Amino acid sequence: MNKQLIDSHQAFLNGTPEIYFSPGRVNLIGEHIDYHGGHVFPAAIELGITAYVTIRQDQAFHVKSLQFEHTTTVIEYENLNYLKKRGWANFVSGMIQACMTKKPAFGLNILFDSTLPRGSGLSSSAALEMLVGVILNDIYRLNIDRIKLIQIAKNVENNYINVNCGIMDQFAVGMGRKDHAIYLNTDTLDYELVPFKLTEYNLIIANTNKTRNLAYSKYNERVHECEQALSKIKVHYPKITLLSQLDSALLPELKDIINNDSLYRRVRHVITETKRTNEAVDLLKQENIIEFSKHLDASHLSLKNDYEVSCFELDRLVELFKQKGAIGARMTGAGFGGSIVAIVPNTFNTESIEQIKTAYYQDTELETDIYQVNPSDGTKKIKKEAM
Ligand code: GLA
Repeated sequence: MNKQLIDSHQAFLNGTPEIYFSPGRVNLIGEHIDYHGGHVFPAAIELGITAYVTIRQDQAFHVKSLQFEHTTTVIEYENLNYLKKRGWANFVSGMIQACMTKKPAFGLNILFDSTLPRGSGLSSSAALEMLVGVILNDIYRLNIDRIKLIQIAKNVENNYINVNCGIMDQFAVGMGRKDHAIYLNTDTLDYELVPFKLTEYNLIIANTNKTRNLAYSKYNERVHECEQALSKIKVHYPKITLLSQLDSALLPELKDIINNDSLYRRVRHVITETKRTNEAVDLLKQENIIEFSKHLDASHLSLKNDYEVSCFELDRLVELFKQKGAIGARMTGAGFGGSIVAIVPNTFNTESIEQIKTAYYQDTELETDIYQVNPSDGTKKIKKEAM
């Protein structure tokens, strides 16, 4: 983020920009749980998207991303509906349509620059949605409170972009706090910021760099399978409205009720992951990082074997990190590619990282990108003095 970048884009910006930043997120535990109403435990991270914003004399929105070919997309208020050819800029038009009830008196130039690898399972879409929401809210004084903005962003993802996701990503990006993870009840949106500051360990993200072609269709397939299982369960337990409400003691009985092996395993993941997440947060509060991390390992196995959203590349990275001394490692995000999260002793060195990279490349012919991250603040305006 820098003066040089601003100077070199003066033809586009035409003035001194306001600067905003939106983080990505890593989910620590509670995976594929947010659309079942259970608890999740994500944190915002320092990788993210920066936006440089100036006001235009006309009423249009001109947007450009340094990661997408540098061409300018013009968005008119009269033409905000989803357009396939608009590509990534649909996240911008979707948020404008959802947040602004009348045509603004002036438009904006927005230049985006991202350190968040796309398709890495670190929520670049939620980061962009929340970023645009916060910019519009601030500049046009829309007075939308933060939780409402998060709900708007999730609706845009569900109904405009057409991805059936839960609310975890937008919430983590919008409500992140430095050195904290968010224990979120995805049914009520009650949440608690839990201190997450490791001293003897580091939090690592490793990107498989595997293209996630099937991610959305498989994601929607899991949502659908779970709906099927829930309707079978409701015949016997009419008061159950969400899978996360089921107790693990019911598992043997559910096997008979569901009477389908893969649907039963989907439900078993939801039940065991819900329990693991609640236990893991308690362990973290007791500063028991070792046991907390073992819950991450168990979460990965459940996602791999029961929910079946992992893949060879994710499993391989988890294995390699464990072999090199990680005390816990699991896939994070939707799966089918994307990233893993690992907790490693801070004696873990560049040699271990290099060995992991080499072994991963040998097995997959893909490079892995490895980042050490810390929980960070949610989407915000950056004070100019901080530059
Ligand atoms: C994606 C979705 C989230 C959540 C995770 C899996 O990131 O956007 O809502 O369901 O997958 O936990």
